Amino acid sequence: MTRKPETNPKETMQKKSEDCFNQSPYYSLKLSNYFQAYDKLFEAYRGKSITFVEVGALSGGSLHMWRNYFGPEARIIGIDLNPAAKRWVSDGFEIFVGNQQSREFWHEFYSSVGTIDVLLDDGGHTYAQQIVTIEEALDRMETGLIVLEDTCTSFMREFGFPSVNTFTEWSKRRIDSINARFEDVDITPDFYSKKIQSIQFFTSLIAFHVNERDCVASKTLENNGVRVESLDLRHGSGGLHSAQIVIDSLRSVSFLKAILSRSRASRFVITIVRRFFQNRDVRQTIKDYTKKRSKTSEFD
Ligand SMILES: C[S@@+](CC[C@H](N)C(=O)[O-])C[C@H]1O[C@@H](n2cnc3c(N)ncnc32)[C@H](O)[C@@H]1O
Repeated sequence: MTRKPETNPKETMQKKSEDCFNQSPYYSLKLSNYFQAYDKLFEAYRGKSITFVEVGALSGGSLHMWRNYFGPEARIIGIDLNPAAKRWVSDGFEIFVGNQQSREFWHEFYSSVGTIDVLLDDGGHTYAQQIVTIEEALDRMETGLIVLEDTCTSFMREFGFPSVNTFTEWSKRRIDSINARFEDVDITPDFYSKKIQSIQFFTSLIAFHVNERDCVASKTLENNGVRVESLDLRHGSGGLHSAQIVIDSLRSVSFLKAILSRSRASRFVITIVRRFFQNRDVRQTIKDYTKKRSKTSEFD
């Protein structure tokens, strides 16, 4: 007997993901902490005509859960290695049979499906499967959400822990990619710096917020507010205080203030003066500045 998914949008929007899990007519297996994460991560996508993809669909329980959760407008796609998953086509789901570790599979998948909004990986959970899945998605997605489940395998010996090749280690390196966008750091932006805006780590689940448009270079900004006499103690008091006084005096001359607060060259002069009074290596400052200029131009 074919069980049709629930299609009352109003009722759907009030349900929590855990209710949808419990009401699914078919078997599904999720960790208890996932529902909190789902409700935070997926709320913005509910009731909309999104494309949601789940790797690992065989028992069908989660496909029905997502239909109930996202509502009738959503295009729900399941992927599984096992061709038996095709049975869910008659329940209104799109099913693709293939191996998530195969880059050719993903090529064919995206050629056929087009743009997706959310990818949830609940497939085989090996590191190679997880890494290929996210890399192939990031190659195509400009915006959206990629969620990897059961990242607990990164800490399980039977999957290869301990290793620098676990999926969680791969994800930690993306923290560097995100921070490389700031002009003052001594690391270089990579492919992921232009794709991943932020990452959320939950127990056994990692969410990547993809947004190319918002992956902009980060720079220090100053507003035009009045400077109150204050002592910045971050790098020691004496020298810095003197530097601050010199800079503040220069700023108080109005035409200099206009120049100093705007141009990149003037920020450079300020840094040199600051470092001179901090007894820091001025030559190193000039080297850093040159490096930073070439890095910033990558984003400009
Ligand atoms: C944990 S079950 C999925 C459970 C389902 N998402 C749920 O919540 O009810 C994992 C599924 O991933 C599939 N799978 C395992 N390795 C795979 C691979 N390399 N590519 C695609 N699917 C795979 C299995 O056939 C199985 O159906």
